[in-house]
Amino acid sequence: MILRLAIIGFGNVGQEFARMLLVKREWLLRNRGLDVEVLAIATKTKGSLLSRTAIDLEKVLSHLKTNGTFKGLPECCDLPPLKMINNCDADMMIELTPLNIENGQPAIEHIKAALDAGMDVVTANKGPVAWAYDELRDRARARNLRFRFEGAVMDGTPVFNLVERTLPGCQVIGLEGVLNSTSNFVVDEMAKGRTMESAIKEAQAKGIAEADPSLDIDGWDAVAKITALANVIMEANLTPKQVEREGIRDLTAEDIKNASAKGGRIRLIARAARAGDRIRLTVKPQVVGPDSVFWSVEGTSSALKFETDLMGDLTIVESGPGTTQTAYAIFSDMLLTVEAIRSGTLY
Ligand SMILES: NC(=O)c1ccc[n+]([C@@H]2O[C@H](COP(=O)([O-])OP(=O)(O)OC[C@H]3O[C@@H](n4cnc5c(N)ncnc54)[C@H](OP(=O)(O)O)[C@@H]3O)[C@@H](O)[C@H]2O)c1
Repeated sequence: MILRLAIIGFGNVGQEFARMLLVKREWLLRNRGLDVEVLAIATKTKGSLLSRTAIDLEKVLSHLKTNGTFKGLPECCDLPPLKMINNCDADMMIELTPLNIENGQPAIEHIKAALDAGMDVVTANKGPVAWAYDELRDRARARNLRFRFEGAVMDGTPVFNLVERTLPGCQVIGLEGVLNSTSNFVVDEMAKGRTMESAIKEAQAKGIAEADPSLDIDGWDAVAKITALANVIMEANLTPKQVEREGIRDLTAEDIKNASAKGGRIRLIARAARAGDRIRLTVKPQVVGPDSVFWSVEGTSSALKFETDLMGDLTIVESGPGTTQTAYAIFSDMLLTVEAIRSGTLY
């Protein structure tokens, strides 16, 4: 089977995914009978690529590394993403533009256009799942297409797929997690005596902080993640604006010392809990003791606890993630989508 892709957004994750396609090319052919071709790539400032035949990814990555732009490549054009989507013959669109916490755009429009053009969609962008999950899911279903987004929370660590694939009939009644690596890293570094500013700078240098670190420090990234999780796993149908939010910006060295004097550590905890017939979403710093599963979630690691009706509490931990793990989320969602296409199902 030939699978033709359009990739909208080609930064850290998009490029890592392209490298993964090259490394796994033989594996895909041998183990899945799958020949993956990329027909379109869009960026905001580096130009875009559009072709009727497979784009040479090795050449593109090397050209981009040397020149910082697609200009000079034969497939280069300056069509905007929506035109690219409507003018290419891809079977699947991979959405990898940055998070827009205000409204999830333009990613939501990219996804709608791809679904309307008959493409399955995979994304690592949490914006569309936090802002428009129900609408996008219904649009995909109405067109007999798939919409997958494992990378939106905890990179390639299975959270959405864990529930969908391995917990049939088990209801998730609450969620609790340490979901923002930058906040966790900054708090841990402050506990070692560093200032918040210097810890944020290091998080940026490590490539874990959002381009605008206030998205991390003010809790917005965790807000988007808990909203996405609650919308998908608990049918919350909420938006980030409905989350009670407090980030770590106002934490002082004194707060951290006081927590430590009482034998505790501060963690930015995101929570989804049932409150009567509604779901309450919160993000706020909290002191946790050694008896908490979040105690040992250090530095850039993340963890998510599922409270369930039939399996009690389950916790999944991701240690020291990088872009490879996010690219793997795209890769694994691509394969799950292909499985569903082949079996004529939506999941
Ligand atoms: N990095 C991670 O480890 C990680 C982890 C989990 C989830 N994610 C999510 O994955 C997505 C991609 O992350 P990233 O780290 O690859 O981001 P990135 O390095 O900032 O790359 C974003 C890409 O999107 C392009 N872009 C921006 N606005 C666009 C627009 N309006 N139309 C078309 N292209 C546009 C950019 O163009 P230019 O190249 O011209 O700037 C760039 O190519 C984000 O939603 C992020 O939240 C990332």
